[in-house]
Amino acid sequence: MHPLISDRWSPRALDPAADITDAQLESLFEAARWAASSGNTQPGRWLVGRRGSQAFTQIFDALRPGNQSWAGAASALIVGCVVTEDETGRSLPMPDYALGLSAQNLVLQAVAEGLVAHQMGGFSREDIASSFGLPPTAQAVIAIAVGVLGPPSLLPDDLAAREVAERVRKPLSELVFTDKWGNAAF
Ligand SMILES: Cc1cc2nc3c(=O)[nH]c(=O)nc-3n(C[C@H](O)[C@H](O)[C@H](O)COP(=O)(O)O)c2cc1C
Repeated sequence: MHPLISDRWSPRALDPAADITDAQLESLFEAARWAASSGNTQPGRWLVGRRGSQAFTQIFDALRPGNQSWAGAASALIVGCVVTEDETGRSLPMPDYALGLSAQNLVLQAVAEGLVAHQMGGFSREDIASSFGLPPTAQAVIAIAVGVLGPPSLLPDDLAAREVAERVRKPLSELVFTDKWGNAAF
């Protein structure tokens, strides 16, 4: 596996004093922008705020308490959104799939920059829609904390234990089939 992929993980211990450069931040969205999308419809949109900014506070305030317990130390908070229709009111094809591809590009670019990125579904889409003034055709889908990795001792005990737990995945034999569903290819 490519090191960019094996090095990616979702830490919570972020250095509360670390900043990321403008070039690093811009590179994340540049990477996201070059993802594939059905018919090149590019339905992904991004909201971003650096720690200390109003936008950061708006995103932080929308996070569920469990995520607020660690994500305030992020250097930047991001929300990935989709636009669901074009200017003529026609539905865009598979926008969430395209946003997911873009988000993975963004996360892997963060790894390439020596940063870490942690995606979060635990936030209020309604709060984001209201604080950022999303149009009815846009929906917030995923929040992402980006920052610099710190030691697990930055975290409360329960989260510190999860931080150092072994990462696990289902075996390929449960995931990849050939000839018939359930017939392992590997
Ligand atoms: C769609 C999605 C939603 C997630 N939501 C949260 C979340 O709200 N809070 C959190 O701490 N981690 C969240 N995660 C991170 C996952 O828990 C993590 O990716 C998973 O446990 C695998 O670990 P790894 O990313 O280190 O490989 C989310 C990840 C994804 C892709």
